[in-house]
Amino acid sequence: MNIILLGPPGAGKGTQSQRLVARYGMRQLSTGDMLRAAVKAQTPVGLQAKAVMDAGELVSDEIVSALISAELESMSDEMGAIFDGYPRTAEQAHALDAILDQHGRSLDHVIELDVNVDALVERITGRYSCANCGKGYHDVFEQPRQPGICDKCGSTEFKRRPDDNEATVRTRMAEYRAKTAPILPIYEKRGIVRRVDGMEDIDEVTAAIARIIV
Ligand code: AP5
Ligand code: MG
Repeated sequence: MNIILLGPPGAGKGTQSQRLVARYGMRQLSTGDMLRAAVKAQTPVGLQAKAVMDAGELVSDEIVSALISAELESMSDEMGAIFDGYPRTAEQAHALDAILDQHGRSLDHVIELDVNVDALVERITGRYSCANCGKGYHDVFEQPRQPGICDKCGSTEFKRRPDDNEATVRTRMAEYRAKTAPILPIYEKRGIVRRVDGMEDIDEVTAAIARIIV
């Protein structure tokens, strides 16, 4: 099973990916997470990407497609893939076709999380995650069961993303509208786009995705 989760910043791609990983043992391939890891490790890719990400703009197609290709290389053929935040341009969509082909894989579904953009700034500015295991939370919508303690690993350290401020979020939204939303027709022509109401609560969205992929 190979699926793309498509939606603007804050739509819930990462949140839903983590749940699908826990439930179905699929692998989340998030170019955002890979780039943040590269920035943290100060690799050449990270050094190049940092300023672009801080500005909310898109990193080059070559860099992100190379990251995806390397990640798929490390996976067994049987393991399902959830593409989170990739592809984001027509060029990346074509690159993904070629990469999947090389691995004998094909896309099953492109799941579009349909959201009201007015809600997204609140989602993003309230977001944080466990500094140890990366489990995502929200100040209002998804709090740890015990305040200050990660549900998944017990850590008491949490972090916020440097690009989760209102000004950068506006640029990220504009990039989505200009470059990412226009790739939907590529998949619509293939008849593989499924829409899910991303404004439902988190568990409802997970259930709707599960009905599509199971
Ligand atoms: P990336 O990390 O992909 O960020 P993004 O696309 O802006 O998306 P987000 O991670 O902000 O949103 P999400 O949909 O995952 O939301 P989440 O589930 O966390 O990219 C970051 C940067 O890296 C880019 O700007 C770019 O520079 C670069 N980059 C990455 N990939 C690239 C690519 N392919 N090409 C070029 N550049 C690339 O949810 C948000 C919050 O809302 C959470 O706190 C969550 O708890 C809450 N929430 C989620 N669902 C719900 C719900 N249903 N109800 C209430 N709250 C909810
Ligand atoms: Mg995300």
